[in-house]
Amino acid sequence: MEKFVIEGGHRISGSVSISGAKNSALPILAATLLSDEPSVIKNVPNLRDITTMIKILRTFGLRVLSGNGTIRVEPRGYNQCIAPYKLVSTMRASICVLGPLLAKKGFAQVSLPGGCVIGPRPIDLHIKGIKALGANVSIGGGYVYARAKRLHGNKVYLGGAFGSSVLATANVMMAATLARGTTIIENAACEPEVVDLADFLVKMGAKIKGQKTHVIEIQGVKRLSGAEHTVIPDRIETGTFMVAAVMTNGDIEIKGAIPDHVGAVVDKLVEAGARISIKNDRIKVCGRNRLKPINVTTLPYPGFPTDMQAQLMAAMCVTAGISIITEKVYPERFIHISELNRMGAQIMLEGSSAIVNGIPRLSGAPVMASDLRASAALVLAGLVARGTTEVHRIYHIDRGYEMIAEKLHSLGAQIRREKED
Ligand code: EPU
Repeated sequence: MEKFVIEGGHRISGSVSISGAKNSALPILAATLLSDEPSVIKNVPNLRDITTMIKILRTFGLRVLSGNGTIRVEPRGYNQCIAPYKLVSTMRASICVLGPLLAKKGFAQVSLPGGCVIGPRPIDLHIKGIKALGANVSIGGGYVYARAKRLHGNKVYLGGAFGSSVLATANVMMAATLARGTTIIENAACEPEVVDLADFLVKMGAKIKGQKTHVIEIQGVKRLSGAEHTVIPDRIETGTFMVAAVMTNGDIEIKGAIPDHVGAVVDKLVEAGARISIKNDRIKVCGRNRLKPINVTTLPYPGFPTDMQAQLMAAMCVTAGISIITEKVYPERFIHISELNRMGAQIMLEGSSAIVNGIPRLSGAPVMASDLRASAALVLAGLVARGTTEVHRIYHIDRGYEMIAEKLHSLGAQIRREKED
């Protein structure tokens, strides 16, 4: 196992390029299952979750070639439709093979993903959606089994207790591309990753309308071809570097981003006192000596993203006042609080709100990464803490941030990767 060792107190400056979005690339790779023809996906980040998805596709019998950020998938003749527990348990996003397998092969057996440290991860909306398209669904032995000779279009409302669902929308949209007739998804997620997936499906020949809205209409077609697609830049990586610059009173230029995708993050960081300017795909971010406290509520897009909540909390730890951060997407996603408090932060949890009493400086400590975004928050905290911070179990961060240590180091942060003793 490896850890990050961070010497805090260094401003970051310079420029950094953003990698492709993991949460776009994963469902797009799953969508290649819908065709018999090869697809080529570019700008795919080199991450553990992507490697897991490649393994899953290979388990089904697909030929997958990858290198230099490009993945070529050759699906012709694949005949396995079982996504095993061993792989799904390491990455809940594996559930997005359910819709494509079912639509293309008439059968899918996918291990139930179960919960995780960010809270319960139910799949009721995924199941509701494919049932509405005519699938026969049963659950047994920890697996979901779905069968349908040919799916048929229908109207389905995909809202749960916490709003829309990104991957349920993705799953149902993918399944509907090959269904007979028209499907309308109401309360669809409109995250940029859903739009990117829809753009890829359209290149494959799918007929989709409304993918930037909460009502998506899909007219089923008989077959889809292969396609070539470039994955959008990662808005959460973009936001994480923005927070890093703001927290360290730094001055950086982020290149290759889509500024429209980080509107809510820009808005909140400006409220906290950052200076941000945008030109085309570049975002210039300058911090300030002591940030102002702010109140934030996470919401589905275009609201403030839950995947940026932990990182923003790290920044709020060192403001001059009290901030309240309310989590409305994953109300239990607060595992990072205890570790931030080990670094001297003053954070109290009240239901699904964190009350953060800003202090002048955190102090370096050994801390444990528990999930992807929580790990990023600990790295950010380490950048501004007095002394040395060791972030253990960084395999979590390797699931979703491409070369984060190298990128931060190139901006002047003192961070290195070491083997655990
Ligand atoms: N939900 C249900 N029923 C369902 C599905 C979801 O109640 O069938 C609930 C969830 O429990 C949650 C809310 O709906 O309370 C939203 O969850 P959503 O389904 O949108 O999450 P997801 O699609 O499983 C994706 C990202 C997550 C990100 C969420 C929310 C991928 C691979 N994952 O998950 O990313 O937090 O959307 O934006 O796209 C991450 O990258 O660190 C990460 C966890």
